[in-house]
Amino acid sequence: MNAPFPSRPVGLLAELTHRCPLACPYCSNPLELDARERELDTTTWKRVFSEAASVGILQLHLSGGEPASRRDLVELVAHAASLGLYSNLITSGIGLTQVLVTKLAEAGLDHVQLSIQDSEPQSADHIAGYKGAFARKLEVASFVTEAGLPLTVNAVIHRANVRRAGAMVELAVRLGARRVEIAHTQYYGWGAKNRGLLMPSREEAEAAIEVVERLKTQLSGTIVVDHVAPDYHARYPKPCMSGWAKRTLNVTPAGKVLPCHAAELIPELEFWNVADHSLEEIWNDSPAFNAFRGDDWMREPCRSCSRKSIDFGGCRCQAFMLSGDARNADPVCHLSPHHQLVETILAEARVDTQEPQPYAYRRMRPSQAVTRERLDISAE
Ligand code: SF4
Ligand code: FES
Repeated sequence: MNAPFPSRPVGLLAELTHRCPLACPYCSNPLELDARERELDTTTWKRVFSEAASVGILQLHLSGGEPASRRDLVELVAHAASLGLYSNLITSGIGLTQVLVTKLAEAGLDHVQLSIQDSEPQSADHIAGYKGAFARKLEVASFVTEAGLPLTVNAVIHRANVRRAGAMVELAVRLGARRVEIAHTQYYGWGAKNRGLLMPSREEAEAAIEVVERLKTQLSGTIVVDHVAPDYHARYPKPCMSGWAKRTLNVTPAGKVLPCHAAELIPELEFWNVADHSLEEIWNDSPAFNAFRGDDWMREPCRSCSRKSIDFGGCRCQAFMLSGDARNADPVCHLSPHHQLVETILAEARVDTQEPQPYAYRRMRPSQAVTRERLDISAE
């Protein structure tokens, strides 16, 4: 089948900065981060948002790093609102004061997605690599709800907190969230470095799935529970990105446009930058976006598989990371000739979950212009 003419994108993930006060070991941002000096300026981001609105994008996700590290956040939100874009702030909460949250609400912010690392303060701070982060996040949740903004709590599940997946749903209810996303770790970017310390055992993962699914039913009407199941433990892979370059674009802090957040790890791909092309040109014509559209690129067993229009062969980035070729079936699939790689990783997963894990923390190098003191986290 030839690659179909691309449909219109519906979402834009704007990675405003890679600077972040937290150091989460599961961070899915790439190993090489964009330094502050390379970040797009305010005028360019506004132009990108305007182009997004004109190609029909409806949802704008403001992400990072920590987007509150940008001093122009209120101005960017106001511009998005003036274009009629639905804006969602994806934040660690660190750097958001009550004054800033109020200003963002007044500027037209539509939604806040706040990450938590655990339901137990000590463990949460250990995972974040930031003392006091948990207490600060609880405070920020109250700023958000008091400002009348809808709140989603986002929790990434791994070996250290897998037994408290249910407690994290309950915490989200107490924080006044309308939605909670319980997402098992995806091993990309920095997260792949810590995979051996993050991977829960199959038994732990399955127990967590059961608890979260039960709460989903029990709490229906109180909170919406979104559940991203653990990929490596599944029989079939996830339909990553709902298909390559079908619905969303990611713009990196330095303006490179990617079909998914991890795409830079596939060395053969050529990405275009917003400095040189419009979003519309990039969506329609850039080599990276067209690389895996349709199914011409597929190999067996995907090519003749009845599920190829359901899961699109899984994740291209994961296929490359594990098998060395992005055209292969995602090795998570039990039909993949490379599936044994996943079985080996699972067999090696240690199960002593009670001890704090000696993570390799994610921190920007000083040469990338980020020490905590230099973050633009303002008190206003
Ligand atoms: Fe999906 Fe390919 Fe596995 Fe079929 S063989 S289920 S298309 S990953
Ligand atoms: Fe890139 Fe799945 S993360 S295709």
